[in-house]
Amino acid sequence: MTQTPLVLGIDIGTSGCRVLAVHATTGEVVEHESGSWATSSLHPHWSEQDPDEWWTTTAASIKTLVSRLPSPDAIQSVAFAGQMHGLVLRDDQARVLRPAILWNDQRTIEQCEQIHDLLGRDAIIRCTGAPVLPGFTAPKLRWVQQHEPDIAGRIDQVCLPKDHVRFRATGVHATDVADASGTSWLDLHTRDWSTGICSSLDIDPAWLPHVHECTDIVGTIDADGAEATGLRAGTPVVAGAGDQAAAGLACGVVREGVVSVTIGTSGVVFAQVDQPPVDPSGALHGFCHAVADRWHVMGCMLSAGGSLQWWRDAMGIHDEFDALIDEISDVPPGSDGVRFLPYLSGERSPHDDPRASGAFIGLTTRHDRRHMTRAVLEGIAFGLNDMLDLIRADGHDTGTIRVAGGATRNPLWLQMLADVFQAPVETVNVPDATAYGAALLATVGAGIHPDVETAADAIVTVTNRIEPDGDDDHADDRADPDRYQD
Ligand code: XUL
Repeated sequence: MTQTPLVLGIDIGTSGCRVLAVHATTGEVVEHESGSWATSSLHPHWSEQDPDEWWTTTAASIKTLVSRLPSPDAIQSVAFAGQMHGLVLRDDQARVLRPAILWNDQRTIEQCEQIHDLLGRDAIIRCTGAPVLPGFTAPKLRWVQQHEPDIAGRIDQVCLPKDHVRFRATGVHATDVADASGTSWLDLHTRDWSTGICSSLDIDPAWLPHVHECTDIVGTIDADGAEATGLRAGTPVVAGAGDQAAAGLACGVVREGVVSVTIGTSGVVFAQVDQPPVDPSGALHGFCHAVADRWHVMGCMLSAGGSLQWWRDAMGIHDEFDALIDEISDVPPGSDGVRFLPYLSGERSPHDDPRASGAFIGLTTRHDRRHMTRAVLEGIAFGLNDMLDLIRADGHDTGTIRVAGGATRNPLWLQMLADVFQAPVETVNVPDATAYGAALLATVGAGIHPDVETAADAIVTVTNRIEPDGDDDHADDRADPDRYQD
């Protein structure tokens, strides 16, 4: 009997993992499974997770999913995508040396300054596409070298979060160009490690994984990986991508003119470009895309969905976000004068300020929870629009904006995004953009589609288009963000 050919796309996210089994030719999601993990914050603005928990939770989720399939033999290939920038250190016995320091950890302000002083901020932007920012990997490793020399002395391998999980499944130490772009060690132009930067920062090249294009097969599930996951030993595994490049693919961002806005814990605006992008101001990141020989510009606000989640938890609501959002339908745009600054974890784009903090402003006795909820959503939407404005100012076409993540489930929020962006927003047929983007990469790795563009064109379809609402009393307010919020 012929089996349905499947691929697995796996997201190693900030709050947990998401595993999708996707029909390799139609793109239909056949099965899905998820797991969650904890973040610890020993000090303000610190953010750490246990890499071994990523592996045990993800392996268990894969195993549960595989047990629901007729046979693991149907799986043609596997791809991991995941949270970017996190620092994972292993010793020569492949043991994890300390908790991973995550993308939203802000402890390394001093190390960023040191690296800029050493190598020159402009030179770093020209080589890597961005200044060294506290979320990135290079300053984290420098922090460990300066504050935990005993641990630094035992480093044998350094890698990114999803690459650690794939290492446990395959035994292969590898990474991809898109994820590696967020380390500050990658040369954007050669799509490989910058030997100059690495040697200036006392990084032994032997610690770093080999850098692949995202669809390359880097290894196969080994015996231990098969035991833990239920996958067939020998199943091919591709390089995968950082979560934002994968989510961009899942939104069909495989050519210029299509821009994605992905709202997870972070909020990211992402556009493909055909040449290595270098924004001398450093407000946007210019990174390698998961499409071969293509790049992207992106901006990342650190607390987008994270702000809403914080607000929901602070209100003691343990339900879906919709319960909270649906309350705001009677509150006018501008939240009756309440504003929210979404800088709960400091900020990265477009305001590179790790010390920034969140705030409600403009509260009076006539306001209640509904106004504050609307203000949170508007604060997120305007934060995203700040980044879209930079992409527009750089001359990039932002004609089509595809939205992925939590916002796509709520019509009120989608309309608000279209209104604030003053542009149509589209949703796509993709339930979990990062895991789905990984699955697209896996179809190319398995030879089902010749390249990522063909895979995305064959599979990604627009499900909804929301026009900005220009035909009401608030149209003028929206054209002027200050008035919108006054
Ligand atoms: C991207 C970024 C976040 C993380 C977590 O630069 O820092 O989006 O990848 O999602």
